[in-house]
Amino acid sequence: MVAGREVSREGSHGTARECLKDALGRPLNDLRLSVTDRCNFRCAYCMPLDRYEWINRREILTFEEIVRLSRIFVSLGVEEIRLTGGEPLLRHKLCDLVGRLAELDGLGLKDLSLTTNASFLGQHAAALRRSGVRRINVSLDTIDPQKFRAMTRRDDLANVLQGLLTAKGLGIAPIKVNCVVQRGVNDEDILPLTEFARRNGFWLRFIEYMDVGNANRWESEKIVPKREILERIGARYPLEEVGRSDPNAPAVNYRFKDGGGDIGVIASVTEPFCAGCTRGRLSADGRLVLCLFSDKGVDLKKLLRGGADDREVASVIREAWTSRRDRYSEERLEAMNSGSYRADSRRKIEMISIGG
Ligand code: GTP
Ligand code: 5AD
Ligand code: SF4
Ligand code: SF4
Repeated sequence: MVAGREVSREGSHGTARECLKDALGRPLNDLRLSVTDRCNFRCAYCMPLDRYEWINRREILTFEEIVRLSRIFVSLGVEEIRLTGGEPLLRHKLCDLVGRLAELDGLGLKDLSLTTNASFLGQHAAALRRSGVRRINVSLDTIDPQKFRAMTRRDDLANVLQGLLTAKGLGIAPIKVNCVVQRGVNDEDILPLTEFARRNGFWLRFIEYMDVGNANRWESEKIVPKREILERIGARYPLEEVGRSDPNAPAVNYRFKDGGGDIGVIASVTEPFCAGCTRGRLSADGRLVLCLFSDKGVDLKKLLRGGADDREVASVIREAWTSRRDRYSEERLEAMNSGSYRADSRRKIEMISIGG
């Protein structure tokens, strides 16, 4: 496997596009774009309550900068953009940005999606749909109001549920519901959430609790492994494996044998998927981060604001991606298997500033 560039893909206007490969042969296919590090929730596994310093507003990329960078990323092979946060719907006039990004479809962008806590989805779903968002992923770890309050430190479950139903009513599909499972916190919610998703036609995905960031004091005892999640659901609703929607997708999908729909499991801890990791991440302050568990990023904003032209910016991205060797989750599993893993051994970027 070799790193490098091929000029192989074409935009629908016939523009030549590159297909960058990193040092392990993985193409740059997806961009996860954080539009703000602000969030109205305070989930303990993501939001470092005591000592997080918000990014200064002047340091946040403007819409012009985001669109310009996105265009460059698409010219380098990116086909899918996911907007994240913090909570992306807190970004003022997000739909304007969505509309401008949706226009990149002519250059080769095939998918524009959003990951949200759905607190404000009811208000924005119609405009999001009009602007070009076709599918949405919603973070929801419990449908028990008390537990919801304890986990998010906000009393907002009713708005989240209303947001989900509004989006469904508008025909946004699929709507995926992400549940991070933590032993002793919400593992008893696996079945109630499963039943909620079956009833409403949402595509539920369970996520193994990951050691992202430094603030959540992650302990491996809190992970509920994929195998156990499937056993618990399968005992009540028998499942059959369907596989990944695409070979590089994080989730492995399963189908209820009774026709009740599909669920997915994202097993980043027990079955890491770094070998197919085609995801670059752009932080709200314009750093290109090559892995969710990285502690540094390439400062693209500095280049933009320093007057670099698109060719220069593209060449910095090209250099960063073609040198990329990150495979944190695979290394973590190797270390866990050999007994040498230590959760706090390395500084990592906080989840709130990169959006998963
Ligand atoms: P789809 O395109 O709908 O499959 O979205 P997605 O699963 O890639 O994105 P989403 O924002 O819904 O993330 C779901 C979970 O997967 C979150 O916990 C993310 O942190 C995690 N995830 C997404 N990409 C990666 C990745 O590259 N590495 C790891 N370790 N986790 C990831
Ligand atoms: N482990 C796994 N998933 C996490 N998320 C946030 N923190 C973690 C963690 N420590 C999820 C959120 C959201 C997605 C972007 O990342 O629940 O669905
Ligand atoms: Fe906000 Fe999502 Fe982080 Fe919770 S997990 S604090 S909703 S960004
Ligand atoms: Fe990609 Fe890093 Fe996640 Fe592995 S741990 S899949 S390299 S983001």
